[in-house]
Amino acid sequence: MALSTQAVAVLEFGIDLDNLREINMSAKVFAIANQKGGTGKTTLTMNFAAGLAKRGRTLVVDTDPQGSALQWAGLAPDERPFPVSVITLAGNVAREIKRFREDYQYLVIDCPPTVAGDASQLAMSAADCVLIPVLPSPVDLWASIKLANAVEQAKMLNPALKAHLVINQLEVRNALSRAMKDALAEFDIPTLESCICRRAIYRTSAIEGNSVFGMGKRGAAAAEEIESIINEVI
Ligand SMILES: Nc1ncnc2c1ncn2[C@@H]1O[C@H](COP(=O)(O)OP(=O)(O)O)[C@@H](O)[C@H]1O
Ligand SMILES: [Mg+2]
Repeated sequence: MALSTQAVAVLEFGIDLDNLREINMSAKVFAIANQKGGTGKTTLTMNFAAGLAKRGRTLVVDTDPQGSALQWAGLAPDERPFPVSVITLAGNVAREIKRFREDYQYLVIDCPPTVAGDASQLAMSAADCVLIPVLPSPVDLWASIKLANAVEQAKMLNPALKAHLVINQLEVRNALSRAMKDALAEFDIPTLESCICRRAIYRTSAIEGNSVFGMGKRGAAAAEEIESIINEVI
């Protein structure tokens, strides 16, 4: 039986090429930001990270002083830990995450609900991509205008930064309203095709310290929409 080059490498040198590739790669960094609270930053962070973890080593970086991501993971029972490690970072996030870049394929930074001169700005200056969860109402979107300015500023320091709005809590049976579509069209930041619907499973899984990927059939529809977001941005 002919062995693949990879199998030979593993047998002869004890090297796992896939692992090696991961180690040599610098992590792709995602910042999840919105200066408004309650738009779904932590929900997106945790589920997005759990989905990414199926593709490569992933770390969640909690920069919100409220520590919700850390608390979320802390709710998991010992026999079934949250599938991704969560660390908290304060201070200069851009500098501090450098040490994790070599060891992970994906870093997901949960930002606090503020913008100017703080963790969100620093996270965006170090990120490859910022995802901005917004609620499906024009009023909520307009409240994110300040964030759009902050994204522009971050792009001056970090021209490769990609930014996307992600609609969260869309009513499962309702299409996006005309007013919302118009408001989105006026916004400079493009919106992802994939939306997150309003589903009880997002809350239930959080209470159990789990992600929608760990909820079996009940989480399947939600897992599918998170997977679809991952496919759009990866
Ligand atoms: N798609 C969703 N469906 C149902 N509940 C959601 C959804 N997204 C967020 N939530 C709930 O809304 C609340 C705020 O979400 P959270 O992720 O904590 O927002 P943020 O981190 O931006 O403050 C939480 O109770 C969360 O469980
Ligand atoms: Mg939060």
